[in-house]
Amino acid sequence: MSAEILDDLERIRQLDRSGMAPLIAGLPGQLAQTPRLVEAGSWPRWTRNDFDGIAVLGMGGSAIGGDLVRAYLGDTLPVPMSIVRDYRLPRWVNVRALVVASSYSGNTEETLCAVEEARRRSCRIIALCSGGELGRLAERYGWPIVALPGGFPPRTALGYSFAAVYLTLSRFGIVDDPVALLLRLSEFLNARNAALTPNVPPADNEAKRLASAIHGRIPVVYGAAGSMAVVALRWKGQVCENAKDLAFCGEAPECNHNEIVGWGLPSVSREKMITVFLRSVDDHPRVARRFDIVGQLLHDRGVLVETVWATGDKPLLRLFSLIQLGDWVSFYLAILNGVDPTPIAAIDYLKARLNETG
Ligand code: F6R
Repeated sequence: MSAEILDDLERIRQLDRSGMAPLIAGLPGQLAQTPRLVEAGSWPRWTRNDFDGIAVLGMGGSAIGGDLVRAYLGDTLPVPMSIVRDYRLPRWVNVRALVVASSYSGNTEETLCAVEEARRRSCRIIALCSGGELGRLAERYGWPIVALPGGFPPRTALGYSFAAVYLTLSRFGIVDDPVALLLRLSEFLNARNAALTPNVPPADNEAKRLASAIHGRIPVVYGAAGSMAVVALRWKGQVCENAKDLAFCGEAPECNHNEIVGWGLPSVSREKMITVFLRSVDDHPRVARRFDIVGQLLHDRGVLVETVWATGDKPLLRLFSLIQLGDWVSFYLAILNGVDPTPIAAIDYLKARLNETG
């Protein structure tokens, strides 16, 4: 499939038969809408002093919202926060932990298993879901619930899950009220959408340009630890799920202590791979220096390097500027691959097989 297809709106529409483009464009709307969803819940009078730690339980598209909250709030959080992508809970998750169980469908077995363990340990639990078994458990045990609107592929509900986790923390006084910031972020992303949607031709569309550069290669996306590394993880997930294409991600500075050596020999890294550096003015100055040096090193070895800079006048805007860009890049990669971005047959198949065996 040649790059001209990204100029052909009719062809894009045909391939996107399940309607991923409007869902990606819907990210800013979700951020603005979530405060109302959270308000609609009935909330206990828990306070910051009730908690020694926060555990967000979730997988895939339902985990990354928690990652982003943690990456953004960083060391301003008064208690440690972990994202648990597993059946098992770490030992520190006890009666003094706030547990946010995040599963868009409400039926993800790892999350259900972990939340059941959290219940046994008498943790305070909040459920974020659009229904499913998690919704039923929340009703049965009286857990507060943020009821997300149904009908989305979970990875397209990131605006809801991010804002819901953030607002939940603020409800209990753990962090400041983010509503004004979320509205600002929503406006910012709305304006940026105008330059990234399918009707904008490749010459003026950064996402189409990047997708064309990546197409036919395996992208390895790098970001700085603690912030852009989470965005790199989202890029990997979105490229895999939307474009049905393999992608990897890594974080700096850790990758400077091992992976940079691995780019040395195999010719496949020059012929079939591409690195994408997600950079921000928020990166630690030494990490910024590392990106400069490693970019040159890889370039000299004949490895393709694309550098993308976050935009926006606040750290949260910068984080999301590259989330949004990556979502659109994965969409255009799907189009270049000639596939409908929405179906995720391999995940559906695996979940069905696991349900058969019990
Ligand atoms: C599908 C997607 C997946 C799911 C994951 C967990 O669009 O992004 O990564 O998020 O399989 O399912 P949920 O989110 O329903 O708990």
